[in-house]
Amino acid sequence: MNSFTFKNPVRLYFGKGELRQLKKELPRYGRNILLVYGGGSIKRNGIYEEVISILNELDLNVFELGGVEPNPRVETARKGIEICKRESIDFVLAVGGGSVIDCSKLIVAGAKLEEDPWKIVTNQVPVKDALPLGTVLTLAATGSEMNANSVITYGATKEKYGWSSGKVFPKFSILDPTYTMTVPKDQTVYGIVDMMSHVFEQYFHDAENTLIMDELCEGVLRTVIETAPKLVEDLENYELRETILLSGTIALNGMLSMGSEGDWATHEIEHAVSAVYDIPHGGGLAILFPNWMKHVMHVNPARFARLATKVFQVDPSNKSDEEIALEGIERLKAFWTTLGAPSRLKDYGIDDSKLDVLVGKAMANGPIGTFKVLDEEDVREIFRMSL
Ligand code: NZQ
Ligand code: ZN
Repeated sequence: MNSFTFKNPVRLYFGKGELRQLKKELPRYGRNILLVYGGGSIKRNGIYEEVISILNELDLNVFELGGVEPNPRVETARKGIEICKRESIDFVLAVGGGSVIDCSKLIVAGAKLEEDPWKIVTNQVPVKDALPLGTVLTLAATGSEMNANSVITYGATKEKYGWSSGKVFPKFSILDPTYTMTVPKDQTVYGIVDMMSHVFEQYFHDAENTLIMDELCEGVLRTVIETAPKLVEDLENYELRETILLSGTIALNGMLSMGSEGDWATHEIEHAVSAVYDIPHGGGLAILFPNWMKHVMHVNPARFARLATKVFQVDPSNKSDEEIALEGIERLKAFWTTLGAPSRLKDYGIDDSKLDVLVGKAMANGPIGTFKVLDEEDVREIFRMSL
């Protein structure tokens, strides 16, 4: 393993009714609260009412920023930053999925800065301070509730980048599986694809002797694979929602990359696609990941063969590592398709007319990936395979 330092300061409240923890947490932070949410799902499913009634009970001054988009825009974060500065906000409470949480991370960092927040996203200014942030998660997918990452889109220029700062770890996150029961089938599937992809990104690395991490990754994947098909047929099943919710958090809270550096090229490529075409992140990953795998498996076929046998139950007898690996990739693809995920860019009406733009955006910061460092031609080929 590589040497590593691990720190995750997020206090996680997990379980039915845990929203009540707001009563314990919020009085620590001052009276002016900015409540951030998305396009209205929390108003339709009653979560908004529950949150507001606790905020009122605590007699807090509540300001609101609704309308955070899936693939959240810097333009929206700017509005939140403006409110924070104007109203001397003490605490930001994000209630929603990864997009709402990511947008809120930029708001808490931008509130402490004179410069435009896009400079944070593009690493032109360091994050030295941030307002405190808490989250109530409503969708299992990104792990944003327990990590320091945020992915933001510049709507006007169609750029989408991830950034990270230890200053924007949520102080706490509340995860009640019942709050995820209203997530529709398509978004449930995108979330499942996303969390599995996070494990893959961390599983493919070049560090040695990572057995304990390999086993943990494979265990998370097997759990999701066992649970997901039942969940898409039974969206209001508490136990299944519970398993998937915690899987998503574990998949990207930093624990699975102890001792190794993940690849993340597929995420960079997908962010380019959703920047230009505004498609759901998980949908893009379902299309791209199997093709990334096929394109790079020659780097270490034994690693892919291990995944195929330990996670996708491929019978290895009388087969080469390459054959086992390919069978595993096909099983992954079939698994996602059976759940209802897209498998080709044309499923979103995307053709090759903007291929150069996509390649340029994916490579905006130079070569991507660590398991295999991809150059422009590699990325172009993965796009071609995905059309
Ligand atoms: O906006 P509302 O009305 O709330 O509806 C949302 C949205 O339309 C809806 N939804 C959320 N909770 C719901 C619900 N609908 C019914 N019932 C509920 N309980 O679902 C839709 C998608 O929400 P969104 O937050 O966009 O989904 P997700 O959590 O998948 O987040 C995707 C964003 O996160 C980024 C992605 O790139 C994308 O921008 N990522 C963030 C990461 C991170 N911070 O670590 C890592 C990921 O790799 C990813 O890149
Ligand atoms: Zn992701």
